[in-house]
Amino acid sequence: MAKAKISPLKSTTKSSKTFKYDIAIVGGLGHVGLPLGLVFADKGLKVLLCDLDAKKAELVNAGEMPFVEYGSEEILKKVIGKNLTVSLDNSKISDAEYVILTIGTPVDEYLNPKLRTFLDLAQTLKNDLSPEQTIIVRSTVFPKTCEQLQRLLGASPTPWKIAYCPERIVQGYAVKELSELPQVIAGLTEEATRSAEKLFEKISPKVITASMEETELVKLFCNAWRYIQFAASNQFYMIAKNYGVDFNRLRQVMTDGYGRAASLPTAGFAAGPCLLKDTMQLAAFNSNSFDLGYGAMKVNEGLPQFIVEDLRRRYVLNLCKVGILGMAFKADIDDIRDSLSYKLGKLLRFHGADVYYSDEYASDPTFVTKEKILSTCNVVIIGAPHQAYKNLNFPKFTEVVDLWGACQKKDELSQRVSKA
Ligand SMILES: NC(=O)c1ccc[n+]([C@@H]2O[C@H](COP(=O)([O-])OP(=O)(O)OC[C@H]3O[C@@H](n4cnc5c(N)ncnc54)[C@H](O)[C@@H]3O)[C@@H](O)[C@H]2O)c1
Repeated sequence: MAKAKISPLKSTTKSSKTFKYDIAIVGGLGHVGLPLGLVFADKGLKVLLCDLDAKKAELVNAGEMPFVEYGSEEILKKVIGKNLTVSLDNSKISDAEYVILTIGTPVDEYLNPKLRTFLDLAQTLKNDLSPEQTIIVRSTVFPKTCEQLQRLLGASPTPWKIAYCPERIVQGYAVKELSELPQVIAGLTEEATRSAEKLFEKISPKVITASMEETELVKLFCNAWRYIQFAASNQFYMIAKNYGVDFNRLRQVMTDGYGRAASLPTAGFAAGPCLLKDTMQLAAFNSNSFDLGYGAMKVNEGLPQFIVEDLRRRYVLNLCKVGILGMAFKADIDDIRDSLSYKLGKLLRFHGADVYYSDEYASDPTFVTKEKILSTCNVVIIGAPHQAYKNLNFPKFTEVVDLWGACQKKDELSQRVSKA
């Protein structure tokens, strides 16, 4: 589909009401809501970001991003106070033609989907919504959530326009990816589908419409698939390590000129607020029958323990100073949500090690600098492969655990491979 020409939304809608905003995003200051709002505002649409977080609101109003999101701050400074407005009052959504829901949809401590949070939000929004608006669910939701939302909103003389258009960006790169990725859209009615399609055509190169059931599974399959792929690499890493083989070197040999293996990811922590959570949502949806998903969880969540047990075989941990470089859940962002670096730290401390944390993006008064870690720790573990760790020079007798190969100098590795 050709890129849509940008035109004001009001000229393309049949709605009789005149709205103050084109779009209101509930959860609008989150990792999904904020970049999405910025991209729409950058296209000239009037966007209202509704959230409960006053601290983030203050930052955004001052033109500062509350988290790392590449390419976003320039846009924010351009649009804030013009066609981008922040509100701590959700009832303002009644002024928007489109209402996009992007709040978090976690699983509980027993890994069951916590649908209640989402439905409770819908309940509080109910009186400020009307069938003239289009409601788009952007959060990753348990199948049938849109239907539950419709039931909760109740009977109406004109049908509600409810659509699901799940977010599929990779965190930190949303602004770039929103202009590149196709959007998958399903509406509960034909009108809802067309209306959501019309909106997303303004920012996306391609809009794919699908059934609600397909769209629900597309999103969960995308995340479960990534989680399983990471688990495959992590399991291979453990097998190689137990056999005394360097997995990073093996991976280079395996993929060198061999396209069928090219998609094998590096080993490393597969964490964060989405992949495990959505794999478990899928498992719950399929009556807890998802062997690959549970297997992936066992491998990925077991990786910190594997690292600790390997170290325990070779060191007396209560005599060790161990530094973890990278507390964020992945490279080059500042988000520590569900990061496995913390699980690793806890296990190391349980075995008596003196543990130090460091990160290049996330800040915490207990963190130390990477220089301090290099100068004081006899064991250093890469927890997140930030760019800043690429050219570190470790003291001679430091034990470095670098699953990603983040500190391995590229030339070194390829030379070793070409000599093989
Ligand atoms: N983070 C990602 O990269 C990513 C990618 C794809 C999909 N998703 C999905 O998107 C959804 C949101 O994830 P996120 O990472 O943006 O979460 P987040 O925690 O960063 O953002 C959620 C925002 O909602 C706000 N909020 C919570 N309750 C609210 C309420 N009642 N009213 C108004 N605002 C409220 C919070 O203050 C927060 O700013 C989840 O379903 C997640 O699975 C996330």
